[in-house]
Amino acid sequence: MKFFVDTADIEAIRELHDLGIVDGVTTNPSLILKSGRDILEVTKEICDLVDGPVSAEVVATGADAMIEEGRKLAKIASNIAVKVPLTWDGLKACKTLSGEGHMVNVTLCFSAAQAILAAKAGATFVSPFIGRLDDINLDGLDLIADIRTIYNNYDYKTEILAASIRSVNHISEAAKIGADVVTAPPSVLKQMAAHPLTDKGLAAFMADWEKTGQKIL
Ligand code: E4P
Repeated sequence: MKFFVDTADIEAIRELHDLGIVDGVTTNPSLILKSGRDILEVTKEICDLVDGPVSAEVVATGADAMIEEGRKLAKIASNIAVKVPLTWDGLKACKTLSGEGHMVNVTLCFSAAQAILAAKAGATFVSPFIGRLDDINLDGLDLIADIRTIYNNYDYKTEILAASIRSVNHISEAAKIGADVVTAPPSVLKQMAAHPLTDKGLAAFMADWEKTGQKIL
């Protein structure tokens, strides 16, 4: 499974990148706002740091304008994945931009039917939003499972990018289902290392080590 980091915070990306666990990055207009940075500048910095796909989202709503914005974003670096919303116009933009050889991430996917259209339109990635479905008392992981089944049935090459990740459990379950990628906030990726039994076990080892009176260094 590939890990993308869902942030435009360059320092947070750098810390995870230095650990070797970053396969790509996703951003969106809300994350750009949170970063307080210029979209073109910060996206370029991220692309310089990370080798894998870096999603940068269009903000137009009509297909033609999305295509123009997508072409401009794609010029930032060769690892840009143009992010378009899963609307009718977004699908048109996806078809054109993917036809021109650009990676396209079709975002805001909330149904299996939408995911089928994204694959047919040539998306490189489709981003089903798990957490936002959970927020309205639906099961976001069920959607990941449904899309996995459908894509396997027809050998669709579009990668399932599990998004809107809120917990470590979301990541483990998406991995079990067979999502190709998860994109998670840095805080959730760091939480993956945590377990209360690890903390308890380490405290016990440290206490016993103290009693030996020995030193390694
Ligand atoms: C994905 O590409 C989106 O940026 C992101 O996962 C949205 O997550 P949210 O629902 O926590 O805003």
